[in-house]
Order: sequence, then structure tokens, then C-alpha cells
Amino acid sequence: MMAEICDHIMDIAINSITAVAKKIDIFIVQDKKQDILTVRVVDNGKGMTGEISEKVQDPFFSTKTSRKIGLGIPLFKGTAEHCGGDFYLKSKLGEGTEIFASFALSHPDLPPLGNLKDTILVLIISNPEVNFSFSYIINGKNFTLNTKEIKAQLGDVPISHPEVIKFIGQYLDENL
Ligand SMILES: Nc1ncnc2c1ncn2[C@@H]1O[C@H](COP(=O)(O)OP(=O)(O)OP(=O)(O)O)[C@@H](O)[C@H]1O
Ligand SMILES: [Mg+2]
Repeated sequence: MMAEICDHIMDIAINSITAVAKKIDIFIVQDKKQDILTVRVVDNGKGMTGEISEKVQDPFFSTKTSRKIGLGIPLFKGTAEHCGGDFYLKSKLGEGTEIFASFALSHPDLPPLGNLKDTILVLIISNPEVNFSFSYIINGKNFTLNTKEIKAQLGDVPISHPEVIKFIGQYLDENL
């Protein structure tokens, strides 16, 4: 199991970036009353065939040539299923991929969420050309950050500019 839910989110987002996604939407919902945490990542990367989609959920398969075993998806799935939740992966070749995992908030083995702010900032700084949308609903309170909208407002200033990152960091501090 990974130490934090954010480690899983990072791994799943890196998969999307490796699949040359230009748009990655990350949805997190935390509802204490319903005792549920859900994470959904949707990308417009190269996608997978039905057969590959099945295989990547198995810990002994990877298309990476450097190492035979891909673990990101099986670990995320395993954590969800172990922690009283569900998992699904939907993908279409040439269109994109959607990954969903849910967890029972009260499960004793549920890893902590981790540092969502740093996770988001690292993804933006390392991949300024990707359009990210982060949507976070905690106990009904809604928050969204859309880097395409931010870039439109910035004009020629790059989103990875230190002042812009500082500003986004403050915005995240106020809202997460
Ligand atoms: N969003 C995606 N779009 C297209 N293919 C994907 C996507 N996510 C995963 N894959 C495919 O599934 C495989 C398995 O992914 P997984 O994260 O489990 O392992 P990995 O990325 O290969 O290795 P690791 O995460 O352990 O470093 C990837 O190698 C890739 O071929
Ligand atoms: Mg991976």
C-alpha cells in the first residue's frame, strides 16, 4: 500500500501524462456522512484497448520496457478494495482513460489523503502545457481550479512562473 492517497493520485496523473494527455481532470469527493472518499481521474490521452485495460489491473503487466511490472493501477485498485470501496477503469483507444476509486473514510487502513496542495503544484509546475482541472468537494463544499482558465488570464506569462505558482499556492491554502 502507498503511504498516502496523494501518492496514488500522482501516479495515476503521471500515467495520463505518459499517455500524452493534454487535459487531465481530477475529481475528489469526501463525504463524512456517507463515509466515502472518491477519486476520479479523466484524461484525453492515447487510451487503451479493452484487452490492455483488463491486463493493467493485474500487477504483473506493464507496457514499460525498463521494468516488466507496472504497479500503479493494481496498487490503487487494491487499496480501494481493501478499504471498503470500489474501483473501475474505463478506457477507449485514441480517446482517453477514466479511473475511479472509492474508499470508506472510516476504514482503519485508509491511508491519509496527504498533501493535496503540493501534489497539485508539482503537477502544474512539471507539466505547464497540460490543462488540469481539480475539483474537490468536501462535505458539500465545492472548490475548482482550472489551469486552462488561469492560462487564459495570464496571457504571455507562463503558468510555471514562480509568482504565479505562489499565487496558486495561496489560493489552494485558502480553499483546501
Ligand atoms: N491514463 C492512461 N492512458 C493510457 N494508458 C495507460 C494509462 N494509465 C495506465 N496505462 C497503461 O497501463 C500500464 C500500467 O500502468 P501502471 O501505473 O499500473 O504501471 P506503470 O505506470 O507501467 O508502472 P509504475 O506505475 O509501477 O511506475 C502503463 O504502463 C500503460 O501502458
Ligand atoms: Mg504508473
